[in-house]
Amino acid sequence: MVLAFAITSCKNTAQKDASYTIGFSQCVGSDLWRKTMLEEMRMELSLHPNTNFLYEDADNNSDKQIKQVKKMLDEGIDLLIISPNEARPLTPIVEEAYHKGIPVIVIDRKTTSDAYTAYVGADNYQIGKMAGQYVGSTSRGPVNLLEVMGLPGSSPAIERERGFQDGIKKFSNIHIVHKIYGDWLRQHAEAQLLKIKDQLGDINTVFAHNDMMAAGVHYFFNRYNPANHVKIIGVDALPGTGGGLQMVADKVLSASMLYPTGGKEAIVTAFHILNHEPFSRENILQSSVIDSSNVQLMKMQWNRISSQQKDIEKQQSLLTEQQAVYNSQQVVLNIIVITLVLAIIFGGVAFYSLVENRKITRSLEAKNTEILNQRNQLVEMSAKAEAATEAKFNFFTNISHEFRTPLTLMLSPLEDITKQDRVMAVAGRNIQLIRQNAYRLLGLVNQLLDYRKIEYDKKTIKASENDLVSFVRGITECFRLHAEKLHIQLNLIPEVKTAQMWFDPNMLDKVFFNLIANAIKFSGEKGKVKIWIKKEEDGLIKIEVEDNGAGMTEEETTKIFDQFYQADHAPLMGSGIGLSLSKQIVELHGGRIEVRSEKWRGTTFTVSLPLGDAHLLEGEKHIDSPDDLKLVERSEVYRTDLERIPSNIFADTFSQPKEYTVLLIEDNLDLLQYMQEKFAEHFEVYTATTGMAGLNEAYERVPDLIITDVVLPQISGKSLCEKLKSDVRTSHIPIILLTAQNSTEQQISGIQAMADLYVTKPFNSDLLIASVQNLIRNRLILKEHFTSDITPAEKLPVSKTLDKKFINDFAGIVEQNLGNDEFNVDDICKLIGISRVQLYRKVKALLGCSITEYILNRRLKKAKYLLTHESYTIAEITYMTGFSNPNYFSTVFKSHYGCSPTEYKKKNQAIEP
Ligand code: FRU
Repeated sequence: MVLAFAITSCKNTAQKDASYTIGFSQCVGSDLWRKTMLEEMRMELSLHPNTNFLYEDADNNSDKQIKQVKKMLDEGIDLLIISPNEARPLTPIVEEAYHKGIPVIVIDRKTTSDAYTAYVGADNYQIGKMAGQYVGSTSRGPVNLLEVMGLPGSSPAIERERGFQDGIKKFSNIHIVHKIYGDWLRQHAEAQLLKIKDQLGDINTVFAHNDMMAAGVHYFFNRYNPANHVKIIGVDALPGTGGGLQMVADKVLSASMLYPTGGKEAIVTAFHILNHEPFSRENILQSSVIDSSNVQLMKMQWNRISSQQKDIEKQQSLLTEQQAVYNSQQVVLNIIVITLVLAIIFGGVAFYSLVENRKITRSLEAKNTEILNQRNQLVEMSAKAEAATEAKFNFFTNISHEFRTPLTLMLSPLEDITKQDRVMAVAGRNIQLIRQNAYRLLGLVNQLLDYRKIEYDKKTIKASENDLVSFVRGITECFRLHAEKLHIQLNLIPEVKTAQMWFDPNMLDKVFFNLIANAIKFSGEKGKVKIWIKKEEDGLIKIEVEDNGAGMTEEETTKIFDQFYQADHAPLMGSGIGLSLSKQIVELHGGRIEVRSEKWRGTTFTVSLPLGDAHLLEGEKHIDSPDDLKLVERSEVYRTDLERIPSNIFADTFSQPKEYTVLLIEDNLDLLQYMQEKFAEHFEVYTATTGMAGLNEAYERVPDLIITDVVLPQISGKSLCEKLKSDVRTSHIPIILLTAQNSTEQQISGIQAMADLYVTKPFNSDLLIASVQNLIRNRLILKEHFTSDITPAEKLPVSKTLDKKFINDFAGIVEQNLGNDEFNVDDICKLIGISRVQLYRKVKALLGCSITEYILNRRLKKAKYLLTHESYTIAEITYMTGFSNPNYFSTVFKSHYGCSPTEYKKKNQAIEP
């Protein structure tokens, strides 16, 4: 809408402004008459404000006028108004313009041609005639006349002269004595008069072709012949100062012929032509005689017209002003309208945005409230969870405390009992087992309590100044005996003799007990454990505990200090809090603990502690010497874990060998021993303490069932399970994974490793044995399945597929060699690619018979078939089924089927149709 409005206002302005260029060529512009003409034109043009008006003054010079017109034509005009100085010289250029199609208005003077669009001017012939008649009618007696003519060759001069002649014709008293050319100019006229001054004595009447020359005549006669009263008649009768009207009123002139300029009419006609409106070609303006009889009336009329004209001009200027005001108001109005429209649009947009914003704000507020509620709920829940955790920990702590008392009460009588040789001779092993595990339990409880103290009670240290070297030496010595028993080299290598430092011995001892016990535990028999104490340049003391045990992977070393972390095959302190606790204790001392480890090469833990006391907080320093440390007692819980308790499973060496064999893989020696004893009652038992040893044992022995711990040194129970299940030699063996990891995910991952059963610790040994028996029984059923000819519908698991393949390969080899009496077990081993023992175990496990029994069975079955379905002789069948001679064949056949081959053949042929 705004755009349409703007376009409309532009259009209106353009229509109003449609402009023309009008050229006006004036023959001379300096006299009053011509100025009046120009003024009239400008007045009229003011009604057409967009007109371009070109004005040229030729100064009475025809050549100049021709050039000026040419220039106008070249510049481009829509219409030409011309007052030709002389008729003949100007005719060609006017014709040229006319023939070019430019409308031409000839004003006042004429050319000699008809080639013009319109003419505006009075009838000069009539004016001349009117003047002649006036002279005749107002004169008595002889009239001696002087005619002062205009420019020779200009049309008014010619026409007025001709008219005058005709006007005086009927008056016989009129004699034209002299005729001179004044060229329309007063000075020229005076100059010509001066030339004939002496001949003008009898002149009593003068007709001058215009008032200006008439004024010159008046001046001349006043000057040179003042006594002579001369009647002077002029032309133009212009109003205003110096004009003919005034001269008539002042009796300078007797009369003047009114000669209108036609300025206004010329412009009116020009616009008719340009706007293609009807117009008159010949516009002859009215003329009349002005003399003493009407001059006053004419003057009055003129004054009135003049004042009206001034009013009009005033009105016009007011109008122009109003127009300007209107225009500026129009602009302002347009701006206001546009602004208003824009304001409405933007207002609308703003309102819409406001509404939208309100909606968004409302929804945000709702969300905010929701989030706030959720946050409050979360805070509440977290507070509850914290309270619950706190309660749990309190419970845990309380229980742990509760455990400590009975444990201590158990341990002290136990220690007494261990000193009684008699009791120890009878139940020493069991008592040792109880003692060791009671200490282990105590150690765990202590760790939990320490952990709680540091983690939740933010316990600070009670540091005193002690020699770290002798402190570490004391702890190392606690393990000396155990290391020797295990044939482990335990070396303390201090690079400084003493290291006086601020530390809390009651806390720091746990770190070194833990690290040294672990190093001994994982370096295995005949291992090496070195403890270095070094003084670093940066004011730190470094204690390195190095072992040459199984080591860890890089991933394991990154997690080893995490709380409750347990490596799959590098278990440390069972519960997984030992190292985390050590780290916290070291950090409380302003130090740090790091680990370096290489798989199968060993592990080094480095504890860096700062010298001096700058790292200690206010109140952490205690000058008093620490309580008696009793390191040996305090280390008991760590040391007992390393003790080996003699086994009594070989007591029953001479008992009957068992039908089935079981391999137990467990790194906890006590548990392994316990299980070994339990299982030995029902099975032949093999054992291994690492994943690698377990794997080798499985390949070597091919047991009927394997029970393995998940967390094992070297190879985890899960990888061991995967390896065995995807190997043809061992794929048939049922495997039970035994572990403390009891989350559902861990159980699933165990089953995915193709374990047949996943049993979590603690377990019921009777239930475990029953499960083992069940699995072996199921294996027998499976064996039936394999030996039957029915193809299993479902897809068998990998190990079962391997077993089926094994049976197929085995049966195929036997079948192909039934006729070969030299065929033996070694041939099969070579063809299948496994050892004799493995083949024996596998066939026994899967088919329930020995290899020779199986081959004999197949030979006899084939013989039975040939006897009943083919017509071979007994001797032929003997060799076809791999028996060395018919007698031996007969004997074996009879022992199996209760009749000789011949009898069997007869019997069965008789039945056959
Ligand atoms: C003015 C004038 C008038 C006269 C007319 C004739 O220049 O001389 O006085 O009437 O021209 O063309």
